[in-house]
Amino acid sequence: MSDHVPDLLSRPGFLLGSFATNCSGGMTVSTLPERWTADWDSNLKLARMLDAAGVDFMLPIARWIGYGGQTDFQGGVLETITWATGLLASTQHITVFGTIHTSANHPVVVAKQLATMSQIGHGRVGLNVVAGWNKPEYEALGLQLPDDHETRYAYAQEWFDLIQKLWAADAPFDWDGRFFHLKQSYSHPRPARLPPIINAAGSPQGRAFAVRNANFLFTPALDLGRSRDEIADLKDKAAAEGRQVDVLTFAHVVCRETEAEARAYWQHTLAHADWPAVDNLVRLQIAHAQSFPHDLLALVREGMAVGHGGFPLVGTPEQVADGICALRDAGFRGTTLSFVDYNAEFPFFRDHVLPILAARGIR
Ligand SMILES: Cc1cc2nc3c(=O)[nH]c(=O)nc-3n(C[C@H](O)[C@H](O)[C@H](O)COP(=O)(O)O)c2cc1C
Repeated sequence: MSDHVPDLLSRPGFLLGSFATNCSGGMTVSTLPERWTADWDSNLKLARMLDAAGVDFMLPIARWIGYGGQTDFQGGVLETITWATGLLASTQHITVFGTIHTSANHPVVVAKQLATMSQIGHGRVGLNVVAGWNKPEYEALGLQLPDDHETRYAYAQEWFDLIQKLWAADAPFDWDGRFFHLKQSYSHPRPARLPPIINAAGSPQGRAFAVRNANFLFTPALDLGRSRDEIADLKDKAAAEGRQVDVLTFAHVVCRETEAEARAYWQHTLAHADWPAVDNLVRLQIAHAQSFPHDLLALVREGMAVGHGGFPLVGTPEQVADGICALRDAGFRGTTLSFVDYNAEFPFFRDHVLPILAARGIR
């Protein structure tokens, strides 16, 4: 059966996915009454729509505490492994990722979770590896976030090597590493095929991790000129190690019949921004992560409020399709999409933007 499901890595065309639908607020830091609640029934409804429309993947955010403010943005979160498992059981074609914090999840457990999900989804499961950055969240888990990126990524590397070994070993093995010490470990069954791996690092250490281990680097598109160079550089580095790494980004969609309507809704969203939560989000990114270039982060406060810094796809269906083509032309292999209310807004995108992308030959 798994042979009949196209592997995400070899799918033709520009990849499209959803992002953050397991989190309250989704990607929009606002008090709007129609903001995303992230409850299971809404996720299931959306997943079935995306699956039927041929969208390639769904990517969740792993989060254990929210960003405070009036709405506690992303404070209500469906756990990603259980969320993805339920969706895999309820869909037929779409790839569904789990997002895992390496420090919070033991690799022997994750290896088996992924293998189980692979059976349930007939090979459609993927893994987004998070090496850690959000210090208050680590403290909420009772964990110590290492201050230096070297230790964070050394831990993530050993964690990932161990999972790979569990999926490859023919016999029980001992492991005596820097962080893990296992005796006579093994993991059966194995995934039907190796899950596609995403990593969203921005730091040099994290980028080196992505080049060594990921199939997709996931990174913001705040300046397409800069993205072009960044993507070329990353692909060169991967090629030098005999690997192929593609680059994904994330985009926030406000698509309406007229440009004026779309812009008005962007402004309306902004007028309802949960600014204390936006400021917490930006402050934590600057303090602990390098996923958003810090010089650009300060310039995109409004974009952080409306779409968590996602590439703005705002306007008519033609304009939104133009934006997606611009991402493709900058070298991205695909993008996720977010909406204020995914279930209310995706059908218009499906009916009006997807046909344009098909006509232009990019999907
Ligand atoms: C698009 C995107 C998605 C991410 N998803 C998550 C997530 O689900 N959970 C999380 O804790 N961090 C997430 N991150 C943070 C990164 O995985 C990474 O830990 C962070 O960029 C810090 O690494 P760095 O300092 O090497 O950049 C995401 C970052 C980006 C840009």
